[in-house]
Amino acid sequence: MPATDPRTPGSCAMRLRNLVGLSSTSKTALLRSIADDIRAAFISISKQLSRGTLRTKHTEPIHDLIASIKSTESPEYQRMQQGLERYRQRERRWRVERKWMRRKVKGLTSFQPERVEKFHLLRPFLTHKLYPTYTPDKLSAEMSTPGDYDAVRRDIVAQLKKPGYDDGSAGPVFVRLAWHSAGTYDAESDTGGSNGAGMRYEAEGGDPANAGLQHGRAFLEPVKEKHPWITYADLWTLAGVVAVKELGGPEVEWKPGRTDLVDDSKVPPRGRLPDGAQGADHLRFIFNRMGFNDQEIVALAGGHNLGRCHMDRSGFHGPWVNNPTRFSNQFYKLLLKLEWTPKTLENGVKQFVYVDPDAEEGDDQLMMLPTDVALTTDPKFRYWVEKYAEDKDLFFDHFAKVFAKLVELGIQRDSKGAVVNTDNVKGGYISAPKKSNTPTGLSKGPSGGGCPRARL
Ligand code: HEM
Repeated sequence: MPATDPRTPGSCAMRLRNLVGLSSTSKTALLRSIADDIRAAFISISKQLSRGTLRTKHTEPIHDLIASIKSTESPEYQRMQQGLERYRQRERRWRVERKWMRRKVKGLTSFQPERVEKFHLLRPFLTHKLYPTYTPDKLSAEMSTPGDYDAVRRDIVAQLKKPGYDDGSAGPVFVRLAWHSAGTYDAESDTGGSNGAGMRYEAEGGDPANAGLQHGRAFLEPVKEKHPWITYADLWTLAGVVAVKELGGPEVEWKPGRTDLVDDSKVPPRGRLPDGAQGADHLRFIFNRMGFNDQEIVALAGGHNLGRCHMDRSGFHGPWVNNPTRFSNQFYKLLLKLEWTPKTLENGVKQFVYVDPDAEEGDDQLMMLPTDVALTTDPKFRYWVEKYAEDKDLFFDHFAKVFAKLVELGIQRDSKGAVVNTDNVKGGYISAPKKSNTPTGLSKGPSGGGCPRARL
């Protein structure tokens, strides 16, 4: 019998393949017509049987039909299972977020204005480390008096929320700005470090390793404008410390007193910052130069609990964690828990990604840099990765200490905390004048008598 004969089960099988995706009414109608065809096919088989002419070819279409029903059922079933798992995952994520929001709301409802009033009276006697932070929507109208770092802190907080930028926060780029402003330090020659704010000059600001940090610097310009007495070097390091705290991280001790370079003659040479494409030896080479040991390197790398990589900045792409605006120890957990597969991006850059079987279109693919993965393959680094993945409090404690050490690199203080770097004492470094508001371009070329400034 030809396969197109309506009574042939073979043709039913073809129609069954189209079953998925039909509305329930069309499905019922189709199934009814297939049932009629099957009945007709069985009548035909029974006739052949009674005539004694039944052959295998007459029953084959029935076998085909059974196979087709099985293959129709199975992908549909798998699809439903995958959908179900995706919903379960989403529910888990929501539950975690709800828990976090509850904690935040609890913190807000336990806020007691009268206690803050009293706290204000004590303010001049307290270090800025202790002063509470809160989240106003915009810069407050009050001008600050020189040395009122709490006022600066509040205005940095006001700059954090950036709905149209990245994941909605300037926090990650502030943390990176603080780290890169200090991470040029060379202990042997005692050059570079957090004094100077050399990124205002093309020599440092235009370094490809600092690509993207102009956003952080531009976000902080209104704060500098409102508090012109603060140096850029203090502002940038303070912004990193404030961002860590505001994004849920530990309180990092921060002391003021840094000064800004007056020209680019002391800008540290390029090439002192780490290259994400390298391995463990490179990390030790870069961070030992600054004076950090293995434990401190791993703790510092926890900065990658925040933010993301941008193809147009570093060439790498994607966030390290699912919630990149919340400081946690998730980076270490994911490093150990997930399977990291090498991937070459369309720009030729190699990184590691987690191939999530439940990912939906538009979902961010989590990533790790080769230097991040090196923290798990090097046994001495791995020891600390495991510790920090297990114990968030330990990580927060170590991160607070090491970040405080980082932003102090290159700063010498006397017993009272006053900065005694030779340049500062001699008046070589001063608070830099306000920068141009133009976000791109050089403010002055070398021919103009000044030093080329980096893009904001
Ligand atoms: C261990 C060596 C490190 C390497 C190789 C490295 C490399 C990178 C790279 C390639 C990016 C992406 C930049 C972009 O495309 O926008 C990045 C971003 C970032 N890094 Fe690191 N980094 C290191 C250490 C640190 C440290 C010590 C911190 C802070 C404690 C830190 C904090 C950040 C943050 C917060 C971002 C996100 C910035 C944003 O979202 O704009 N990194 N890092």
